[in-house]
Amino acid sequence: MKYGYFDNDNREYVITRPDVPAPWTNYLGTEKFCTVISQNAGGYSFYKSPEYNRVTKFRPNATFDRPGHYVYLRDDVTGDYWSISWQPVAKSLDEASYEVRHGLSYSKFKCDYNGIEATKTLFVPKGEDAEVWDVVIKNTTDEVRTISAFSFVEFSFSHIQSDNQNHQMSLYSAGTSYEDGVIEYDLYYNTNEKEGFYYLASTFDPDSYDGQRDTFLGAYRDEANPIAVEKGRCSNHVQTCYNHCGSLHKQFTIQPGEEVRFSYILGVGKNEGQRLRQKYQDVAAVDAAFAEIKEHWNSRCNKFKVTSPNEGLDTMINAWTLYQAETCVVWSRFASFIEVGGRTGLGYRDTAQDAISVPHSNPEMTRKRLVDLLRGQVKAGYGLHLFDPDWFDPDMADVEPSKSPTVVPTPSDADKIHGIEDTCSDDHLWLVPTICKYVTETGEESFIDEVIPYADGGDASVYEHMKAALDFSAEYVGRTGICKGLRADWNDCLNLGGGESAMVSFLHFWALQEFIELAKHQGKDADVAKYTEMAANVREACEKHLWDDEGGWYIRGLTKDGDKIGTAQQTEGRIHLESNTLAVLSGMASQDRGEKAMDAVDENLFSEYGLHLNAPSFATPNDDIGFVTRVYQGVKENGAIFSHPNPWAWVAEAKLGRGDRAMKFYDALNPYNQNDIIEKRIAEPYSYVQFIMGRDHQDHGRANHPWLTGTSGWAYFAVTNFILGVQTGFAGLTVNPCIPTSWPGFEVTREWRGATYNIKVENPSGVSKGVKSITLNGETVEGAIAPQAEGTTNTVIVVMG
Ligand code: GLC
Repeated sequence: MKYGYFDNDNREYVITRPDVPAPWTNYLGTEKFCTVISQNAGGYSFYKSPEYNRVTKFRPNATFDRPGHYVYLRDDVTGDYWSISWQPVAKSLDEASYEVRHGLSYSKFKCDYNGIEATKTLFVPKGEDAEVWDVVIKNTTDEVRTISAFSFVEFSFSHIQSDNQNHQMSLYSAGTSYEDGVIEYDLYYNTNEKEGFYYLASTFDPDSYDGQRDTFLGAYRDEANPIAVEKGRCSNHVQTCYNHCGSLHKQFTIQPGEEVRFSYILGVGKNEGQRLRQKYQDVAAVDAAFAEIKEHWNSRCNKFKVTSPNEGLDTMINAWTLYQAETCVVWSRFASFIEVGGRTGLGYRDTAQDAISVPHSNPEMTRKRLVDLLRGQVKAGYGLHLFDPDWFDPDMADVEPSKSPTVVPTPSDADKIHGIEDTCSDDHLWLVPTICKYVTETGEESFIDEVIPYADGGDASVYEHMKAALDFSAEYVGRTGICKGLRADWNDCLNLGGGESAMVSFLHFWALQEFIELAKHQGKDADVAKYTEMAANVREACEKHLWDDEGGWYIRGLTKDGDKIGTAQQTEGRIHLESNTLAVLSGMASQDRGEKAMDAVDENLFSEYGLHLNAPSFATPNDDIGFVTRVYQGVKENGAIFSHPNPWAWVAEAKLGRGDRAMKFYDALNPYNQNDIIEKRIAEPYSYVQFIMGRDHQDHGRANHPWLTGTSGWAYFAVTNFILGVQTGFAGLTVNPCIPTSWPGFEVTREWRGATYNIKVENPSGVSKGVKSITLNGETVEGAIAPQAEGTTNTVIVVMG
């Protein structure tokens, strides 16, 4: 069953049936104002933080995705009314037709009902802390029509906790007022002129308005049948206290074949409603703001464009996977329909990994995130949990760190610097490859020397921060020399404490390889020697203690008592994805062991929806292994198809040179390929999800938690850098693809440091890997391509064989 299709020319997903089995969401906003919105226009907005400055309300975990950002239309002759989005009025799909276009940072709702064709385009203009609703109502009949339009948003009490738990005081400390087409909502207790005021404005002069939710909706009614819309007029009711909304109403007389166009504007800031109301009176200003959003994404997507024989791969890489990765980098991981803003801040490891995917499209944000994380690292080398709003200040976005190094309050030892038991064993290590990628992408080598404070006092260059991270993992090892598991490793539910984590030692090895390249490039010979020796020790410990001969794969780790996790002997948690993929990805495993391990992954963990995280799932609680054993079987970390490490398998296969296998794994997880089996998937087909129910669960194939997953960043990084093989390094740009043998070739356009590279890869002998020749503008190149002059367009021909 399918509900829509990809419109690649416009980089849109078009929903042709709005009654999708779960809300399919999109993200509006590229700076500080963000809206998460569904195909029903259900959803919420926030300013800077989904936990604080929550602008509109949302009721999660309900059977409806309400409330939302709605426009109602009413035929004032018959009294019949509907909404431009299918919900909340939900006309029968036999009498009304709806189309929703989720584009990059905008959503367009279209409804055709009873001779009225209406569209509503929602987007957040660059440079404004507001959402514009560009509404067009067209009369397609040959009679004059009298149509009323009403907006509806439900304002939030700002802090999500107050919305949900501590409701009472909030009910009495906020209020609405009305003046000249603007309903302003005053959070009386918040004196900040920006964050203390929200508003809804219209570019028309309203006929009536409502600021009180319950007056607009009416008692024992809901968003589906507001009394104001039913009656055809609001009550002009604004006041302090209770629950608040923004409804502005206007009646239009529309001649046959004619249309009216106006905007609603939802935003934050005292008096801002009046300013933007004036600004967007001019529809040219609305068009210009929308064009800027289009251009924002054009310029980002144009940095890397692929044309290959795999249409699903092209669709995802050229738009959706980059878009999803950027969404995670810009808005972090706390605003979706599942994560509804219960926390503020950054997940340390999540952010460090997400950032590796976007240095080409968003170098500013990559750099900022790296600085955020380096400031959250303690001298001992590990990273802090960056959730506390007192110490993670979203306004850091505005501050150039080198100019104001004291902007982050130094946390007190007691409550901010958690002890070693509470430390995650992997967090800090992800920084190392991401920093290297940032530098090789941008050429900003001085970043390595930039001095950044540690969270617990003192400061050091980025280079020294990286060494601290590597040294921490060398020091915190268990009795076999494998890194300790501590509170958790990448797998939040594997809580090994003093037990040992194979995954972290492999990650350590990868980080070391990346660092050694950097140290070589910088001529730091002593460090090259020191960290090469460290890497050799890690390898020795891994090969000695982590290979399971009987299974022919790497184990997942050891409990604190030395019991192995993930051996062929076990009946639960017998084989794991993270350790086997990272053993190969890191460059640690030999070709022979690497192939065996990945064959075992294919044999034991593959399904048509992607690779399981482990199998069979754990059925017996075991606190020495961790919470994973207390999660239901086939769900999340316990034997689901956990999407995030799937791309590690694509990289592993690409490194082994097995392009057919890499593509088989890629295609299985690619949501694009599930567009026509949505009855299984449920979730949107343009977004990776955190996990898909595994074979040990009855809903095998059902996809959960869209959008906020490290899968997007990793999928993008894996495909661009390892399958298509276009990589930046300290020596320059290299092209070393690993593709299916059936591909005759592919093309990539890559912008790098101001120059464009039109790369054509030819595969005349049908190989997976191996490059016979590379030419740059007709000249043979040995090794890497040096950066070409800014503004030049260069032709690169790569012949595989
Ligand atoms: C979630 C967390 C991430 C963790 C993963 C596996 O996605 O955000 O940090 O690595 O689960 O447990």
